[in-house]
Amino acid sequence: MFLCTGPRCTQRGALQLWKTLRRHLLAHDRIETPGGVLLTRTHCQFPCNLGPIETVYPEACWYGVRSHADAQRLVEEHLVGGELVEDLLIRARP
Ligand code: FES
Repeated sequence: MFLCTGPRCTQRGALQLWKTLRRHLLAHDRIETPGGVLLTRTHCQFPCNLGPIETVYPEACWYGVRSHADAQRLVEEHLVGGELVEDLLIRARP
């Protein structure tokens, strides 16, 4: 998964969301473990006005993660539960 830490997403709280994503992934044993999630940062992914942007592969889902609650839902519903978080989705390719 790729969290945008470009200038606009950072201005909208991406760095704090990074910590929240990481904390919830750790709580669910989904990071720093074999077969777990790789969480990394990118520069601008371009739909800046919808950010902070988080893209998840291999599903090619683009999410607008605008709060700590959104970050928690993304981890719990998509990365643990395996379901798309439809209301956060910007674009998905099944
Ligand atoms: S700064 Fe994040 S999408 Fe542009």
